[in-house]
Amino acid sequence: MDVLSCQRRHFEMPPGVCFLDAAAWTPLPTAVRRAGEAGILAKARPWEHARSAFPAQTEAARAGAAALVGAAPDDIAIVGSVSHAMATAALNLAPSPGGRILRVEDEFPSLCLPFDRLAETRGLTVEVVGRPPDGDWTEALLAAIHRPGAPPLAVATLTPSHWTDGTAIDLDRLAPAVHRAGGALVIDATQAVGAMPVDVARWRPDFLAFPTYKWTLGPYGLAFLYAAPGRQGGHPLDENNGNRPPAEGARRYDRGELHDPVALPMAGAGFALIGEWGPAAISRRLAYLTDRLAEGCAALGLAVPPQGRRVPHVLGVRVPGGLPDGFIAALAARQVHASERSGALRLSPHVWVDDGDIDHCLTVLADLLPAIPR
Ligand SMILES: Cc1ncc(COP(=O)(O)O)c(C=O)c1O
Repeated sequence: MDVLSCQRRHFEMPPGVCFLDAAAWTPLPTAVRRAGEAGILAKARPWEHARSAFPAQTEAARAGAAALVGAAPDDIAIVGSVSHAMATAALNLAPSPGGRILRVEDEFPSLCLPFDRLAETRGLTVEVVGRPPDGDWTEALLAAIHRPGAPPLAVATLTPSHWTDGTAIDLDRLAPAVHRAGGALVIDATQAVGAMPVDVARWRPDFLAFPTYKWTLGPYGLAFLYAAPGRQGGHPLDENNGNRPPAEGARRYDRGELHDPVALPMAGAGFALIGEWGPAAISRRLAYLTDRLAEGCAALGLAVPPQGRRVPHVLGVRVPGGLPDGFIAALAARQVHASERSGALRLSPHVWVDDGDIDHCLTVLADLLPAIPR
C-alpha cells in the first residue's frame, strides 16, 4: 500500500504556518503558479505565441479532470464554477411534476438554488433531511429515500460528505438506492476530488461537478462538469461558438472564452500532481493527519465525529457552548488557519501538512481553550 509522505516542498509555505483550511481554498503548488505565470506572459505578448497551441492545453486539462473521476474526456464539460455546473445540470433534468428533490440540511447554496428553481417551475417538492443527532447522514438519507407514502424521488442532490464538518455521506450505499428509486443523481464532489478517490462508474451520477480552487490545488474561476452519456443532449446555460453543434458530448456544456491560457494550464498542473500522488494515497495520508487531530481534540474535551462517520480529510470540531467570537482570528494570529462553518471549527489538512503542524494546532487549541466557556 502506497504511503505518501508530506509534500510541503511543492508549496511556498514558510515553516510555522499551519494551514488547515483546504476545504475553503488551497495554496498553489509552485508548479501550478509557474503554469499560470507562463499563461499570463503568453497573454502579455501574444505575438510570440501561436494561438492555435492553446486548445491542446484545454484538452489536457479536460483529460486530467476526466482521469480524476474515472470518466472519458468527452464526458467532461469545462465551466466557470460549481454553481454554473449545477445550473447546467438543473436546466437539463426534466423531472415529472409531483416528485421530490432530496438533499441534506444546510447544504451549500450552489447545490440548492438551481434545484429550488427547478422544483418551483416543474411543480416538485424539496425534501431536506435534517442533521441527524448521531451524525449518520447515510442512514437518515436512506430512510428518506425509502419513506413509505413519500412522493416519488425525482432528483437527489448529494455530496460525499457534509461540507461544513466532513461528516460522511456514503455514496457507495446511497447512489444505488437513488437509482433503484428511479431518481436522477446529481453529485457535488467539490469536497472530494483531489482528496479521495472518486469514480463515476461506481456512483453512476447523471451529473457530477468539482472546482479547481480547493483540493485539486488550482485556480479560481474554473470547474468541471461530468455529464453521463445519456445527459449530453441538452442545452448549455450560455450558448456560444464553441459549444454549439457540431460540438458533441459534454462539450455541449462548455463555457464561453474556453481556451484560457492561464487557468486551464494551472488546473492541468494541479491535476498532474494529484494524479502522481494518487487520490487513494492522499486520502490515507489525510486520514492519518485528521485522526491525530481528532484524538488530540478529544483529549482536550472537544467533540469530534467518530472515525467511521467522517471523511478522512475534514474534521468538524465542536466546542461545548459554541466557538467564541474571534476564535478563528485568534487561531490565525498564532498561524493556525482554519474556518468556522455552521458552528464547527473545520480543520482540513492537505498534502503540505506535517506532524509538526498537528502538534502546533493542538498546542494552540490547548492554549486558547481556557478562554472558551465550557
Ligand atoms: C460543497 C461545496 N460546493 C461548492 C462550493 C463552491 O461553489 P461555487 O463554485 O459555486 O462557488 C463549495 C465552496 O465552499 C462547497 O463547499
